[in-house]
Amino acid sequence: MTPSLPPAPAFGAALPVASSPEVLKFLALRRSASAVTLTEPAPDAGQLHDLLRLAARVPDHGKLAPWRFIVLEGAGKAAFAARLEGLSQDRGDPTLAAKLAKLKIPPLAVVVVSSPKPASIPEWEQLLSAGVVCTNLLYAAQAMGFGANWITDWYSYDADAVAILGLQAGERVAGFVLIGTPREPPLERERPAVAGLVTYWPG
Ligand SMILES: Cc1cc2nc3c(=O)[nH]c(=O)nc-3n(C[C@H](O)[C@H](O)[C@H](O)COP(=O)(O)O)c2cc1C
Repeated sequence: MTPSLPPAPAFGAALPVASSPEVLKFLALRRSASAVTLTEPAPDAGQLHDLLRLAARVPDHGKLAPWRFIVLEGAGKAAFAARLEGLSQDRGDPTLAAKLAKLKIPPLAVVVVSSPKPASIPEWEQLLSAGVVCTNLLYAAQAMGFGANWITDWYSYDADAVAILGLQAGERVAGFVLIGTPREPPLERERPAVAGLVTYWPG
């Protein structure tokens, strides 16, 4: 049972500035689950609604909302995967069909589409905001107790595949966020030694 979320704050409402040890612990231990281990149950309609609301609560220079979501579940997801299978046969590359397992097995996929708007805000910043939406969605799903994984794979870059999804000119797939319940707990992966990635500008 997922605890209910606070309602969306009203515009201009004063919001808490407070420490959140639970969030820090979550960030220290969260880990994506392998997509092919994800099974039912997936978020129900109410949980998905909450997840998308949380995913869209991101930094967004210019308040352009330069992204959108396409939900793939049930028969719709199966039909999309079947169309991709057809494409992989046309391409004559059997490795493409094999890669569809990550999309076919999890019960729910949310495609985060980068949809830059004509504006003075650099497109780069609009693309970054779409990446943050993917991260927020991934983390929110994990915080809700589901397993989740952010992938792209060939069908994010194939012109025919993204046309099947319904992407418009200028739009790109930022990620497929696959969500379900992992059959086994994810194991920690190698992490970079952060000290080696940090310099202090000498002035
Ligand atoms: C933009 C992006 C695209 C990715 N695409 C793939 C992919 O196509 N296939 C894959 O196996 N992993 C892909 N990954 C990596 C997975 O998300 C991987 O499981 C993740 O690095 C696990 O890290 P975490 O446990 O810290 O969440 C991608 C990651 C990012 C950020």
